[in-house]
Amino acid sequence: MTPAALEIQDLTCGYGEAMVLRGVGLRIEPGSITAMLGKNGMGKSTVLKSVMGYLPKRGGKISLFGRDITSLAAHKVAKHGVAYAPQEQALFPELSIRDNLRLGLFTDADFEPGFASVVQHFPFLADRRAQLAGTLSGGEQKMLLIARALMSRPQLILIDEITEGLQPSVVTRLAAALKAERDNNGTAMLIIEQNVDFALQVADRYTVLKRGEIAAQGVASAGDAQEIIHRHLRV
Ligand SMILES: Nc1ncnc2c1ncn2[C@@H]1O[C@H](COP(=O)(O)OP(=O)(O)OP(=O)(O)O)[C@@H](O)[C@H]1O
Ligand SMILES: [Mg+2]
Repeated sequence: MTPAALEIQDLTCGYGEAMVLRGVGLRIEPGSITAMLGKNGMGKSTVLKSVMGYLPKRGGKISLFGRDITSLAAHKVAKHGVAYAPQEQALFPELSIRDNLRLGLFTDADFEPGFASVVQHFPFLADRRAQLAGTLSGGEQKMLLIARALMSRPQLILIDEITEGLQPSVVTRLAAALKAERDNNGTAMLIIEQNVDFALQVADRYTVLKRGEIAAQGVASAGDAQEIIHRHLRV
């Protein structure tokens, strides 16, 4: 069996004494997108933070492409082909587009090839390298955040609630960019979403997190996916 892009087994972790995740299991195949849904405070962002090495684990195992990264520090996890677009403000508003994108790289030598690939998804970046990130519109900032995650041409991207507060035309552009990235470059993704339509349009599989446990999962194109997800989001 080829190793999963991301495999989480029986993960338990939280903040201090408070356990947020209880026995979470998840497997994402290379080149596929999984959407994670769930109400506020259920532990979705905590899953991504624990993969990125920001939180100590109480139990369980996390592997990227067959390599055990459970105990690795954050700066070492980032060298295993994974990029992260966090939920909270993560751009530097006083820095230019170019400098924000450079922060997604380990070495400046990778800038031009990385930039060439992200401009294909987000052409507006091409002529605006010098513009300060803080002067971009909300939608453009979200696109820049995804572009920064793509700069290192990762094999796996973790994206936390990218569509929050965006108008439908920007959501459509982001959906097209993520699907093109998967289809053209075989990039796997774990996307956390509150927008069920966006999630099911972009993802191959879905998973629902409820009070720190996986409550449901399945194929995004299945006829009952909408109904199962909405049922879990209601109660
Ligand atoms: N740094 C922290 N210290 C202590 N508790 C935290 C911390 N970050 C999150 N929590 C708690 O952990 C639980 C899960 O939070 P998390 O951010 O993972 O939820 P979420 O599903 O991403 O929610 P949302 O949809 O609102 O983003 C919440 O009860 C939250 O209060
Ligand atoms: Mg969150």
